[in-house]
Amino acid sequence: MKTVKIALLGFGTVAQGTFNLLQENAELITNRTDVDIEIAKIFVRNPDKYKNITLPSHTTYVTNVEDIINDDSISIVVELMGGTTFAKDCVEAALKAKKSVVTANKDLLAEAGPYLLDLAHKNGVDLKFEASVLGGIPIIKTIYDSLGGNRITELVGIMNGTTNFILSKMTEEGLSYSDVLKEAQELGYAEADPTADVEGLDAARKLAILASISFNRRIFFEDVTVEGITNIDTEDIDFGKEFGYNIKLIGSAKETSKGLSLNVYPAFVLLTHPLASVRGSYNALYIKGNGIDDAMFYGRGAGSLPTGSSVVSDIMEVSKNIAFDATGHFKPFYYDQKNIYAPGKVQSSYYIRLAVDNKMGVLAKISAKMAENKISVLSIVQRNMDPETAVLAIVTSKCPRSYILNLIESFNSLRSVQEVNSVIRIMEV
Ligand code: NDP
Ligand code: HSE
Repeated sequence: MKTVKIALLGFGTVAQGTFNLLQENAELITNRTDVDIEIAKIFVRNPDKYKNITLPSHTTYVTNVEDIINDDSISIVVELMGGTTFAKDCVEAALKAKKSVVTANKDLLAEAGPYLLDLAHKNGVDLKFEASVLGGIPIIKTIYDSLGGNRITELVGIMNGTTNFILSKMTEEGLSYSDVLKEAQELGYAEADPTADVEGLDAARKLAILASISFNRRIFFEDVTVEGITNIDTEDIDFGKEFGYNIKLIGSAKETSKGLSLNVYPAFVLLTHPLASVRGSYNALYIKGNGIDDAMFYGRGAGSLPTGSSVVSDIMEVSKNIAFDATGHFKPFYYDQKNIYAPGKVQSSYYIRLAVDNKMGVLAKISAKMAENKISVLSIVQRNMDPETAVLAIVTSKCPRSYILNLIESFNSLRSVQEVNSVIRIMEV
């Protein structure tokens, strides 16, 4: 039986999940691959940090990455550090040294995926990145291979575990945003800089990767219109419940006759919609294809073992390719030219919360402004806060985002409007 030696770069949440699965399921993995996969080296900055972890006798820590790149016995480098500078240098160096690479690094893939895939191809090695999107859900292989015969027209889902965990806790336990973020960090869901999660950037990177593969167009992170969850208030969540909605951070890529529409945004989702019941660190993705019709994928989107599961699957696939001398035999992605459809033109209903003077005639003025902007009211709830202030929560008819922006301007011009607090999209079903 062939032995394939691998090296891990980094030994944090995902790397330890990968290490634990490779240890715990070693026999099963060997039987399934007919390869003995051995972790030979682990690159860390400070081995003392990991002294409570027992390594097998064949595994050693190294503090210089060159000890891995220059080691001809190592065939797979597993990059699990994150970031786009040092990690990119390491991945490039490994590929040039004709080592296959497995990574969970969506930031790097969203920025330099095509270049690195091309580099892998040229060097006759593999580059696999299943864990970079939706954690434990096997979605890259599914789209690329299992759904390869479909023309995909739409992707919509929950693509970030941290924000879904935060929004679920805010909804179900009424906890504050900052308390829940801390918990998500402790559980290993959040990025090193959690701004990437809560501002929607992580979801946008994942959407860019998924959409590039699904729509055969080179989609950059910058092509996605992004809005995060930092402005979501428990008051909005409460009003949402009254209207029959749960709040979710949605990633959506849709092919329209005018081009691709790519958006990450917090949205109210009807409680009867399956995405409304995706809770905690779980993710889910709907895919529409002209063969499969609708398919939905659901599972843990973050965390040590679920993400490790995807990393291990890539390591197994590459190990089998090494055993069969078949690495680098993939067809590089091909790209069509497609326009990006500006978000201003995308139609939806909106929820608007505003504080107004608590006096007669104000509602009539609000209605008049809506009519002027060709928007009608689908539902409205009023809560009187004190003798001076009432809060209005309005669900509008469907309209382009540009109409809503004009409406907010009109509201702000009314003396009886104290403040427009929130504007949240309602997800189309
Ligand atoms: P962690 O912060 O838990 O671990 C990162 C590891 O990399 C640490 O061991 C860290 O060492 C090391 N490291 C970081 N930068 C360097 C560097 N410049 N030189 C040497 N070592 C470095 O991160 P995660 O395990 O959570 O994430 C790893 C990757 O996986 C990221 O790309 C992330 O986006 C991705 N990912 C994470 C998921 C999750 O659920 N956590 C899910 C899917 C993907 P030190 O301790 O010394 O800082
Ligand atoms: N921070 C990411 C998330 C990790 O919360 O979804 C998984 O990619």
